Amino acid sequence: MTLRDDVLKMLDQVIDPVSGRTVVQQDMIQGLVVKDGHVGFVLEVASGRGPESEPLRKICEAMVLGVTGVKSVTAVLTAHDDHSGHAHDDHAGHAHSHAPAAAKPAPARKEPPPPAGLPGVKNIIAVAAGKGGVGKSTVTSNLAAALQAEGKLAAALDADVWGYSIPRMPGLGGQRPKVSPEKKILPLEAHGLKVISIGFFLKEDEAVVWRGPMLHKALTQFLEDVAWGELDYLLIDLPPGTGDVSMTLSQLLPQATFMIVTTPQDAAQKVARRAAQMADKVNLEISSVIENMSGFTTPDGERYPIFGEGGGQRLADELDVPLVGQVPLTMPLRAHADAGIPLVAVDPDDPASQAIRHAARGLIALAPPAPIALPVLEVVQAGPPQPVGMSLPMA
Ligand SMILES: Nc1ncnc2c1ncn2[C@@H]1O[C@H](COP(=O)(O)OP(=O)(O)OP(=O)(O)O)[C@@H](O)[C@H]1O
Ligand SMILES: [Mg+2]
Repeated sequence: MTLRDDVLKMLDQVIDPVSGRTVVQQDMIQGLVVKDGHVGFVLEVASGRGPESEPLRKICEAMVLGVTGVKSVTAVLTAHDDHSGHAHDDHAGHAHSHAPAAAKPAPARKEPPPPAGLPGVKNIIAVAAGKGGVGKSTVTSNLAAALQAEGKLAAALDADVWGYSIPRMPGLGGQRPKVSPEKKILPLEAHGLKVISIGFFLKEDEAVVWRGPMLHKALTQFLEDVAWGELDYLLIDLPPGTGDVSMTLSQLLPQATFMIVTTPQDAAQKVARRAAQMADKVNLEISSVIENMSGFTTPDGERYPIFGEGGGQRLADELDVPLVGQVPLTMPLRAHADAGIPLVAVDPDDPASQAIRHAARGLIALAPPAPIALPVLEVVQAGPPQPVGMSLPMA
């Protein structure tokens, strides 16, 4: 396979949110040039879709940059008057001789500066663990639903680039996020929760090998281009083995903190050491621990501590942060998690739902109180500064 084939294969994984087909299937990639590792192409969209397709252009660029052997990528957006998607058999490689007056190539751009956090989001919590399969995804979506149930505005970002949990959420079906007139990606809503996942932009069942730079760019994209709006909490579901993703997040979201998920039987000291090393490396704080799979609770409410007891508390002590909750193993939580439904949203009485609601209240209690809004004082450029010590009222 040539590099050109690899590039086209990668682009054939990028979904056009309007048609639901890939940009290659939709014949939107034009004039592809691959030379010495440098790639250029035109992303052609129907007229009127020009500005709103900017996020798609960026995603195409980011994806191609991740192809092994690619050194640089320039994708130019053009709006076509009459783009049926099938009018031409093969555009790739042909020059654009008929560009209509409406065609507006995006100016060549430098790398955008990283965003300085997410201004409308008050708390950002990255859900991490010392090992895989301890329930990070389950905790993330249920905790977001629980925060919402406690009256907070919460959203979940699925940064699990290998597992994509959120597109599985029923109700989302084959939906793709829409783009606002301001060119921002609008999160989807499922069970009252705003959710966005890297999986929304990829074809299902396509294994993608995400490498550092592409991962970095793709995550940057989400963080920059998603219109989260005002949020009290953004919970981020991290993939297992969090190196690259945590690195990116810490650069982009310096205000984020980690919540560590652990199980009762995990060796607290080992998890603590790992978590602390990761947090140190990326310079983010660990703010809480949540214990998951804390005993099995039967439908009758009987509890069996099958995985032992106390791991969460030991880890919390070790890390010197609060333990916000102990979530039991219950059958409904597993069944709903696997179906993509946050149990908390549909069965608040399940012992696992109650434990997660309890954890949500704990998190809310931990959050620093909202700053008191002070009236804005007008700064008057007065003359020379008043001498200090002369402010006593003269009798
Ligand atoms: N408290 C619980 N009760 C019952 N089942 C649970 C519970 N927590 C998680 N599970 C189940 O355990 C499995 C693993 O959970 P999940 O996918 O959330 O873990 P993860 O840490 O995100 O995994 P990965 O490291 O692969 O991303 C899932 O099948 C989930 O439904
Ligand atoms: Mg997961």
